[in-house]
This record gives sequence, C-alpha cells and structure tokens, in this order.
Amino acid sequence: TILILDFGSQYSHLITRRCREHNVYAELLPCTQKIKDLKWKPKGIILSGSPYSVYDNDAPHVDPEVFSLDVPILGICYGLQEMAWNMKGTVAKCDHREYGFAQLHLTKGSSTNAAVGALFEGLDQEMQVWMSHGDQLSAMPQEFHVVGTTSSAPFAAIAHDTKPMYGIQFHPEVTHSPNGKAIIGNFILRVCQCKPNWTMEEFIGKEIKRIKEICGPTGRVIGAVSGGVDSTVAAKLMHEAIGDRFHAIMVDNGVLRLNEGQTVYERLNKDLGVNLTLVDASELFLSRLEGVEDPEQKRRIIGNTFINVFEEEALKIEALAEMEAEKGGDRKGKIEWLLQGTLYPDVIESISFKGPSATIKTHHNVGGLLKDMKLKLIEPLRELFKDEVRALGRLLSIPTHLVQRHPFPGPGLAIRILGPVTREQVKILQKADSIYIEEIRNAGLYDQISQAFAVLLPVKAVGVMGDKRTCEQVIALRAVQSEDFMTADWFVFPAPVLRKISSRITNEVEGINRVTYDISSKPPATVEWL
Ligand code: XMP
Repeated sequence: TILILDFGSQYSHLITRRCREHNVYAELLPCTQKIKDLKWKPKGIILSGSPYSVYDNDAPHVDPEVFSLDVPILGICYGLQEMAWNMKGTVAKCDHREYGFAQLHLTKGSSTNAAVGALFEGLDQEMQVWMSHGDQLSAMPQEFHVVGTTSSAPFAAIAHDTKPMYGIQFHPEVTHSPNGKAIIGNFILRVCQCKPNWTMEEFIGKEIKRIKEICGPTGRVIGAVSGGVDSTVAAKLMHEAIGDRFHAIMVDNGVLRLNEGQTVYERLNKDLGVNLTLVDASELFLSRLEGVEDPEQKRRIIGNTFINVFEEEALKIEALAEMEAEKGGDRKGKIEWLLQGTLYPDVIESISFKGPSATIKTHHNVGGLLKDMKLKLIEPLRELFKDEVRALGRLLSIPTHLVQRHPFPGPGLAIRILGPVTREQVKILQKADSIYIEEIRNAGLYDQISQAFAVLLPVKAVGVMGDKRTCEQVIALRAVQSEDFMTADWFVFPAPVLRKISSRITNEVEGINRVTYDISSKPPATVEWL
C-alpha cells in the first residue's frame, strides 16, 4: 500500500486514482496522521500539494517521523516544499503565481542517486508538465540535488543524494502532465517495488470473504436500492456473499423516473436474483410534498419520509424472519446491519484535515436511519472510486446499461419541478424526461454524457398550435460532462438531435409548448437547477 498524505490540494484524490490505475492500492490520509498510529507499514509515501504556503502560521505539516520511516518518498508541489522545509531548504514566494503548462528539462543523467533513473525511466529529457503554485524552492535542502528544471523553476525536480526521496514542483496527477501517470507508476512500481495486485477480481473475493465474516452464519442485512449504480452493485455483492439474508428495499417515492420502480424491481429481483421488496409509497410522499416550493424543504420531506417508510418496511421484514426462525429454522430473524453504498470520495471528504467542505446542497438524505434503528453500518464500496464500482459491477455480471447509468438524485423529480410538486407536474416531467433520454440513447450519445435530465419550469409561455394561441409550460433540457460533478461542462449536442427531442416533447407531452437547452457550466451554475 502507498500512503498519500493530503495537505488539502484539490488534486489529492487524483494521486490516489493514478496509483490505483497502476493496480497498486493507495490510501489517502490527512497530513496530520501520526505515523505511530498507523496500523500498516506503507511501501512508499506521496506528499500532496496544498493551497497553503509552508510558512503560513496555520500551514499543515507532517509528522516528522515520516522522514525516518526509511521508505521512498515523493513530494509533489507543496509536498516538495514541505520536504525541503523539514530538511532546512529554503522556500520562497514566486514573483508571480505559476499556473499552467511548463517545459521540464531532466538532468537525471548527472544525478548521484541511481534510483533517479528509475523514477524517470522510459521518459524523454524534455516533457510538458502542469504547474500550479505560489511558492517555490529557492535553495536546495541539505543532501539534495537538482534533477529537473523549467525556465522559471531552477529546482523543478530534486532528489536526495543517496536515499529514494524526490520532490517535483509540477503536478504529475493531472492529465495536463502527459507523462505524469508514468512518473507515478515508476515511483510506486520501480522505486517502491509495489506489486500491481489491486484488481477488482481480487477485491471481489476478499470483500465477499470479509462480508461473510462480519455477518457470521446468521446475520441479516438490510439496504435501500435506488436503481443507481452504487446501490445495485452493493446489493449484488451482498447477495453473492450472504444470499437471501440480505434484503433490499426499493421505495417508490412518486418522484422517480417514468416506470422506474417496476423496471428496477424486474432488473434486480428477476435478473440479478436479489431479494427485493418494492414499496409504493408515492401517495404518502406526494401528499407531504403538496404545495412545497423550497428545494431544501423538498429534500427534508423526502429524506424524512423515506426514513419512516424504510423503517416500517424493515420491521415487517424482521417480523416475518423471526416467525420463520421460531418455526424451528436455524436462522435468527433480527436484522443487525444496514448496507450503505458509500464510495471513497465521501470517505475522503469526511477525513479531510480541514473538515468536511461547505455544503451547498444537502445531498445525503438517509443518514438518519442508523440513529433510529440501532443498526450497524456495512459499506462494501467505501474503498472504491466510481469507475472501480463500475468495473466491479461488470465483473458481477450486472448488465452494461445498468452499470453505465447516469446518476439520479435521491429527491428525484421534486428538485426538477421548479414550482410546487403536484401529480400532474410529475407526469409531465416524467414523460418529457423519458423522451429526452430515449432520443439520447437513439443518437448513441448516452455514454458520452455524464448526466442528462429534463427540468420543468414554473412559467407559462405563449405558443401557437393549429391556429390557436396556447399558453403552456416550458421544459429545460440539461446535459453535462463531468469527471466528479464538482465541476461540469454543458454537452454540445448535434443540432438535429436537439431538434428531434424538442419536436417530440412539444408534440407528445400535453401541457408543454416550448423547449430550451441549458448552456451553463458548473461553476457558476450547479448541475441540478435546485
Ligand atoms: P449539483 O446540483 O450539486 O449536483 O451540482 C451534483 C450531483 O449531485 C446530484 N444531486 C443530488 N443527489 N440528493 C442526491 O442524492 C440531492 O439532494 C442532490 N442534489 C444534487 C446531482 O444530480 C449531480 O449528480
């Protein structure tokens, strides 16, 4: 395992991903991690970048033990400065911040440290790299020498005279440094000599074994599924591990996509064999949502109602299982565990040394379940990034169209109906949305888009239909490309595709006479309208 110490750079999680792309397991921990509290010995350490300057009063610093562990260390940007700062080098503010492309010239041939060859093996002496920093090294730390320069950074890459310790001023983890992935690969595979054995095939075997051990021979697990990738993969994994002792619940909250409840039931239960109950609670949700316009209140109502419905259903399932146990079966009925499809980015967010980042929208709406039900949490995906979950899904024989599905928010269409939620509005939006997605699929564009959906605007526009003036509502279409949904670009459709979608929606969806396309990026907009 590679230990990545995070100083709060926006790119830290990318370092973790790059290591994993080389099939080496890497874990990101806050830079404040005490080495003596670490339960495992890393094969190598990477120090991330940071928005701080090492001389700031509140600058984050590593446990100096890191430097006596006797394992290879790679410092990236701030990581380099932190290393130098610990070794009495000098870091100075640049006259101007350096942000963007730079040309790195390697002088590794003159290095006194043979391991430097391994770090840059297979790479040309000149390469394009991506810089993003305000400080840079102005004098070498003791026992270090230069192995790479750029026109504005004389110490762009440095190495220890004898030990496998390196610092690079540029960011190898971003795709703008085309050789960055190779440099990280060389560091972890050649310098640290990690074995490339982090694969989803290995993961499945280990995780199923772990789940079996945690749950024991009788333990029961319950979990919510939504039809989304994460909950589907988590449910299938649980099913593989403990069969029918895992029970999934899907709650139809009345604001799902068109026919979603039934479709998901068929896929999960019929195709994947997961023990699943579909609860139609749409009446309850829609009655509680009636007349509500405020998006955060919509989220709260849906979150709380979900918890009520889920708990009630869980108790029913438990009562049935206990009856079964009383009849002399050897399986205990009590449910002890709650499955949650938490992914690694959520874990990273919660362990950041800065604390969780500011919440712009309250996205997580099932957090209340644990408090009330006294269940223990089981999170089989908490080490994985989204693309790893998708790979896992494929290995578990989940059909590709399910694994590649766009995300759908918990509060569903309620946050895509900009005015008050009513049954009629839900029907209009469901229909428009389904035409939109169908045409995106027909055009073969679905997999190029990260998320696409229709939004129902609370305005009436004038139109003309069959010589008659109409006054009807407006649909806005949204489609974005995004790596992690923190930022997003609007998708450029071929005009004929948009024309077809617009014409179908206005012809087939009663109550709509106008369609617009949203051309806003995130930031400054967000992906959802509410
Ligand atoms: P925003 O609108 O914040 O969306 O740019 C980023 C991603 O988060 C999804 N989203 C939600 N997901 N509950 C969810 O489960 C929510 O309340 C929620 N709000 C936004 C959004 O669909 C996009 O994928």
